Amino acid sequence: MAFCGLSDKVLIMNSNEIRQRFLDFFAKRGHAILPSASLVPKNDPSVLFNTAGMQPLVPYLMGESHPQGNRLVSAQKCVRTGDIDDVGDSRHLTFFEMLGNWSLGDYFKEDAIKWSFEFLTSKEEGLGLDPSRLYITVFEGDDNAPRDMEAVESWKQYIPEHRIYFLPAKNNWWSPGDNGPCGPDTEMFYDVTPHGLGDLSHEQYVEADDRGDLVEIWNDVFMQYEKKDGVVIGKLAQKNVDTGSGLERITMMVQGKSNVFETDLFAPFMSAIKLASTDYNERSARIVADHARSAMFLIGDGVTPSNKDQGYVLRRLIRRAVMQARNLKLPTRFVSNTVTDYVDLYKNVYSDLDILVISKVISDEEDKFQKTLESGLKEFEKGTDAFTLATTYGFPIELTVELAQEKQQEIDVAGFHEQMKAHQEASRKGAEQKFKGGLANTSEITVKLHTAHHLLLAALQKVLGPEVHQRGSNITEERLRIDFNFDRKMTDEEKKAVEDQVNEWIKADHQVCRREMPRDEAEKIGAEMEFGTKYPDTVSVYFIEDKEGNAVSKEFCGGPHVEHTGDLGTFKIQKEEAVAAGVRRIKATLS
Ligand code: GLY
Repeated sequence: MAFCGLSDKVLIMNSNEIRQRFLDFFAKRGHAILPSASLVPKNDPSVLFNTAGMQPLVPYLMGESHPQGNRLVSAQKCVRTGDIDDVGDSRHLTFFEMLGNWSLGDYFKEDAIKWSFEFLTSKEEGLGLDPSRLYITVFEGDDNAPRDMEAVESWKQYIPEHRIYFLPAKNNWWSPGDNGPCGPDTEMFYDVTPHGLGDLSHEQYVEADDRGDLVEIWNDVFMQYEKKDGVVIGKLAQKNVDTGSGLERITMMVQGKSNVFETDLFAPFMSAIKLASTDYNERSARIVADHARSAMFLIGDGVTPSNKDQGYVLRRLIRRAVMQARNLKLPTRFVSNTVTDYVDLYKNVYSDLDILVISKVISDEEDKFQKTLESGLKEFEKGTDAFTLATTYGFPIELTVELAQEKQQEIDVAGFHEQMKAHQEASRKGAEQKFKGGLANTSEITVKLHTAHHLLLAALQKVLGPEVHQRGSNITEERLRIDFNFDRKMTDEEKKAVEDQVNEWIKADHQVCRREMPRDEAEKIGAEMEFGTKYPDTVSVYFIEDKEGNAVSKEFCGGPHVEHTGDLGTFKIQKEEAVAAGVRRIKATLS
């Protein structure tokens, strides 16, 4: 299905032009252009990825002043994997760029709405979309906030009132999660039917939306409220605007396509699949195209495949892409060889995309997975059960389910998860047992290294800046290892300053105390958390502090630790090196 999305068919922009137009439009209206933040949030271990343009701006929406002023605009890289199983339809994606503009206590509803409308419809400065295809929703009101008549009044200047619909909080209240800034929103939908829907009653509007005849293209959130544990607790000190519009969707509208994979963002990659595949199907092709692009951006931001957190998501994306590439009968290493098409498209926008690194990381994982697949597939054919396939052969349950579906077999997925849970519980107990054993054998040195690890992180923050946080750690009998975010090599002076600081704290013989406290409180006092870890409501925090109780280090930690830093001996940095883009590693010893 094609539709004529434009009021003037001559104007066909490519995605790079659309992104640039958006940034220019708001820059001209006093907004500072921010570069996209990394996909991996810097200071928020509660989420794996940035999932909205506003995420890196949360502190500023909460009231902190932004160094670049109170009008901001960006195209932010986002990853959302919640709907990964829907990828393959016309518009679900795991990676997207979110175009957004922000007012931090500056302009509010009237200007936000005016500029959204102007950008969408202006041929000179915006996208030239057809205003008669726009449908608007606004918040209908509830106990938290009134019906948004202010938004309606603004919209009425541009859109006939009968195309403005009131909807409840479920649709028109936006927040990034259970905690943080939030508020009522107004959403813009575009009619993608060939002939146009014309006037719709409320019910007809809802039905058209359900059918997919209307596509949401922009959301203006009036961020004036705050949520805590899922409940709106009151107003923020300032009235903010937070908008979000997916570049991929908007490109689809502008280019008059009925699915994102036909836009210039995906077309070269999709053509490459079509050319190379000897058993083509659209769904598999879209999954490969989507996952390859997400993998490229994740690797560009320093993520490498692993079994944990961001690394696990990356691994899963590459492995799912490889599975679909097999369905399509694409040559081996198709993803790593073809990802170049994407790098070409984006390299002028995102300078951190290094094609050599990206292809290498993907091809290593493709090769690894190829081996796993070969042994796993053989076992599957033999009738080996899902649990053994997963635990012995590293064969993911998703893939077992997909294979079983192809063979019209049933897999007891719930039973599988129960078995896995029991298995993980048993390994956890085993690990605890081992740990206790280790301590009974007085692995005194590992306990000391553990305390030194806390001092080292505190010293790094003191010397390099408070934005340094731990990204990983590992302690053996020989040495400690810490990975932390920092985007360049440390100088010799910095290394010496860190070493001296740790030794100074050791000499001062500070005491090490463990305190249990509510997680909220620990967060409030700024205790360091382990990257990517979810904590229970009550946590244990280790303080290293002087006689007056001034803490040099506070960390969420289960211990154990030495009681006094004077027990540690002499601290020495052995090595400082890069592990990934923006992540450094230090190995250090005590003697
Ligand atoms: N922050 C607005 C949105 O994601 O829709």
